Amino acid sequence: MSAVATPKMYIPRDTTALSLGADKVAEAISHYAEDNTLPLHITRNGSRGLYWLEPMIEVATEQGRVAYGPVTVDDVESLMDGGCWSGNSDHPLYLGLTEEIEYLKNQQRLTFSRVGVIDPLSLDEYCANGGFDGLHNALGLSAQAIVTTVADSGLRGRGGAAFPAGIKWQTVLNTQAEQKYIVCNADEGDSGTYADRMLMESDPFTLIEGMTIAGLAVGANKGYIYLREEYRLADEVLQQALAIAEANQYLGDNIRGSGKSFHLEVRLGAGAYICGEETALLESLEGKRGMVRAKPPLPAITGLFGKPTVINNVISLATVPIILARGAEHYKTIGVGRSLGTLPFQLAGNIQRPGLVELAFGPGLSTLLNDFGGGTRSGRPIKAVQVGGPLGAYLPESQWQTPLDYEAFAGINAVLGHGGVVVFDESVDMGEQARFSMEFCAIESCGKCTPCRIGSTRGVEVIDKIRNGDEKENNIELLTDLCDTMINGSLCAMGGMTPFPVMSALQHFPNDFTVQEEV
Ligand SMILES: Cc1cc2nc3c(=O)[nH]c(=O)nc-3n(C[C@H](O)[C@H](O)[C@H](O)COP(=O)(O)O)c2cc1C
Ligand code: SF4
Repeated sequence: MSAVATPKMYIPRDTTALSLGADKVAEAISHYAEDNTLPLHITRNGSRGLYWLEPMIEVATEQGRVAYGPVTVDDVESLMDGGCWSGNSDHPLYLGLTEEIEYLKNQQRLTFSRVGVIDPLSLDEYCANGGFDGLHNALGLSAQAIVTTVADSGLRGRGGAAFPAGIKWQTVLNTQAEQKYIVCNADEGDSGTYADRMLMESDPFTLIEGMTIAGLAVGANKGYIYLREEYRLADEVLQQALAIAEANQYLGDNIRGSGKSFHLEVRLGAGAYICGEETALLESLEGKRGMVRAKPPLPAITGLFGKPTVINNVISLATVPIILARGAEHYKTIGVGRSLGTLPFQLAGNIQRPGLVELAFGPGLSTLLNDFGGGTRSGRPIKAVQVGGPLGAYLPESQWQTPLDYEAFAGINAVLGHGGVVVFDESVDMGEQARFSMEFCAIESCGKCTPCRIGSTRGVEVIDKIRNGDEKENNIELLTDLCDTMINGSLCAMGGMTPFPVMSALQHFPNDFTVQEEV
């Protein structure tokens, strides 16, 4: 392959790539270029989400971007000596054209179309790749027309509950108030999930654009991003992106000369899982302890500081620009049934090829596990898969053909949630996992209602009794009753869904609830 005029290289700067040494690789490459007076333009892009290949560097060639990975500092000399900047295919780390890597090629990247492609803080690159097209269209529409577009697209919340975004927005639009708010839920507490983080670190203007459109849609001129406090890099990138957007009139007063205004701030959480629940989040944002509020009133009517509030997940809001850019009709052609568009699945746990896979709803779970994930990292058979975070059911092999759509998953008492997929191999004790789920609830419960606060603590004790063979049948009956009470009597999904992982483990892996023989 021949090189383009100015050698251009991309080295990711997302948290995962950094944790695997991307900064050191970038440093070594810069030194090599300096020492050899090689003119090299390095862009620190986000990650493509092929995490098992990180740090994955790319070079621009006339045929497109060529990738190498996973690159360590020790590989830099041989890569550079071999002229990797021109797309040399002889190096053992050569992966070919990035877009042709099966893992990426077989995805439908919509919300993540720019992630890993552009410099996250380059407004020019953002705009050159379709950025702000949605906002531009929204500025020419009435508030009602924007809400109708989102409603017609069929977009449902990507944070967990899959509630239709259009209905929520319509409620806020219809509620009269002098002040309304847009709140972005960036608490991302689910096990094995990182889609929000990736999006914010790698394409922050998309979230800013989505929230601004939401503000125009419902008549809110103020927004907050409630960010998980561990996401320090996302915070740094967002702060810079907010300043750039404001300096270029994409945010603040008189957006692009429209006379409309929208102001946005980032607020850090303090590490409680329950603060991802929308009403506990609002309490926390108001400076109070993260306790769940009873509903009604809905946040859409009485939300932040008692005002009508749209609260949506990062991915829900970051999907809005493409809907406004391409239209509801286009978006709703993707997916199946009432699960329209795409979901960024996040493969994690014991998996050969962890990473982000954005797919239209519809294929079976096994496609993710095998075609993308390549089975377990340990090489042992997969035993169970937990989809949708710590409140999602443990799914046995008999359920891996279930289509990835909200209704099909509800049909097997499971959830897609935020798209986290955590894989367990056959060495895992599912009785221990059930206990962990109950204990997680006991630790993370906000304590407001009895079924969850007391039920989860008693639940751990009952599971221990079952696993010790202490009146096993009676205690299984007791656990079933307790779970029933938690499902039907809890104020929020924390207590209301913990029974799903617990009971699915008991139902599908009963042998893991027997007394362990001493070897
Ligand atoms: C215990 C608990 C934790 C939650 N954690 C999150 C979270 O980390 N991020 C998120 O977006 N939604 C989370 N949710 C869902 C939110 O309550 C809410 O449904 C969501 O913010 C609405 O946005 P969406 O409609 O765009 O999904 C959680 C819910 C519960 C019950
Ligand atoms: S279910 Fe648990 S977390 Fe939710 S309100 Fe009740 S005590 Fe709080």
